[in-house]
Amino acid sequence: MFYRPEQGHGLPHNPFNAIIAPRPIGWISTQDAEGRRNLAPYSFFNAVAYVPPQVMFASTGAKADQDGTKDSVSNIRETGVFCVNIVEYAMLDAMNASSASLGKQEDEFAH
Ligand SMILES: Cc1cc2nc3c(=O)[nH]c(=O)nc-3n(C[C@H](O)[C@H](O)[C@H](O)COP(=O)(O)O)c2cc1C
Repeated sequence: MFYRPEQGHGLPHNPFNAIIAPRPIGWISTQDAEGRRNLAPYSFFNAVAYVPPQVMFASTGAKADQDGTKDSVSNIRETGVFCVNIVEYAMLDAMNASSASLGKQEDEFAH
């Protein structure tokens, strides 16, 4: 399929989301400066270099209670730390549940 994003694709869902398959999920865990925990799935993630060892994820969009970003990025700005966890199939439902847009002080591990 060839399409120009600016002209639309005419499909029910954006095909860009399915271009890379299979698509492992990075389950990004963080804490804010007060130690409140956060967990969210990010499919735009990977390990990108050996030396120095580098992992990444890409956050797009924003939450209403954050300043132009999501909780994960906000926490990383506060602490400089994040962990990339790999999601096994058995954790599928929990992973999906952790994508809920909860208040920034709510703990997705508990949710
Ligand atoms: C399977 C899956 C993959 C996702 N991948 C991404 C992603 O790559 N980038 C992104 O910004 N949001 C992604 N999301 C949406 C975030 O998980 C969602 O916005 C979440 O509420 C962000 O949480 P946070 O504010 O705690 O960081 C994904 C959701 C699901 C269910």
